[in-house]
Amino acid sequence: MAKAADFKLGEFVFPRGWFMITEANELENGPVGVRFFGKDMALYRGSSGRVILLDAYCVHMGTHLAKSTSASIVANNEQIEGDAIRCPYHGWRYNADGKLDDIPYHDGPCPKSARLNSYTVKEAMGAIFMWHDPEGGEPDYDLPTLAEWKDSQWVNGSYDHLGELEMHPQEVIDNMADAHHLGPTHGAPCEYFENEFLGVKYYQRQGGFHRMYDAYLVTSTWYTGPGLLISKQRFGEMNGYEFIFHTPVDDGVIKIWHNNLSMAPNAEPSAEDVANGKMAQEGALAAFAQDFQIWRNKRPAIRIMAMPGERNFRRGRNWYKQFYNPRAMAQEFQEMVKGKHHLKGLDKPGELARTLEAD
Ligand code: FES
Ligand SMILES: [Fe+2]
Repeated sequence: MAKAADFKLGEFVFPRGWFMITEANELENGPVGVRFFGKDMALYRGSSGRVILLDAYCVHMGTHLAKSTSASIVANNEQIEGDAIRCPYHGWRYNADGKLDDIPYHDGPCPKSARLNSYTVKEAMGAIFMWHDPEGGEPDYDLPTLAEWKDSQWVNGSYDHLGELEMHPQEVIDNMADAHHLGPTHGAPCEYFENEFLGVKYYQRQGGFHRMYDAYLVTSTWYTGPGLLISKQRFGEMNGYEFIFHTPVDDGVIKIWHNNLSMAPNAEPSAEDVANGKMAQEGALAAFAQDFQIWRNKRPAIRIMAMPGERNFRRGRNWYKQFYNPRAMAQEFQEMVKGKHHLKGLDKPGELARTLEAD
């Protein structure tokens, strides 16, 4: 299993950025334990509705705050008080900032140093996202969201949980520059392909004929930061979005989710429109599964034997380094790759590129 150091990405083992950590509805039954960035954490919804993410282990004796279902206070729904959470073992209570604020059998003040880290989280598009920053800073870019998620004409999918994959996220990012897998892997060779880098964004615009579906496929795809991919897709007459969100669990292990949004022909989608949306999601998932199966079984590509038509792999890797280094250095990497980069033989824009440009 390849690790961040093998790819020489920078100072940090895990990247800075916004990452999906769970589907929102997984919080319905109380606190859940999550593990990302090599850390165990407890995630719960406070009584105010706010979602809170704290380090998992109680300072008292190391109990996981979110992994008991049978302790009396958990089973009796007494674990969450307002936005605070009690440890299932002896009932010590932590507030939303992770500060220990009550020990049930102790009258004096709680030990001042007793606190857990609390992390910045946001809820959007049916998911919970966290801001991860090895330097402990506030977010330096906004969580990407789509207005279409709340638009009734767009049929929302539910998240496909693809589980954990023992592959470094670098190789998921490599996919953005990978024009020449579209034919052999997906049966949809592109006739046009470009990448563009702009700050924390990495774009891919491409189009070509899809063999299996017998339709022209045009996609405009972008990463906002290192973990959140949104792809706008036009397939014949159909319009949709695809999400691929991935988050490091440990060094060299990631968790992946997939979702889809489909535009219905009417403002109020019929049952048939919803069924079509579901079918579109299944189609997109099947395409992603083609990549996934290859990823599950490949050896790491620490170095890519890149042909002249594959120069964007290197650019994509340099773009990705900005998230593994102190934010003071981010601009250096952004400048290194900034702008549009076409690939040899796939650079005749014509009508197709103008359509993509409009996105
Ligand atoms: S271990 Fe958490 S209160 Fe004792
Ligand atoms: Fe792919």
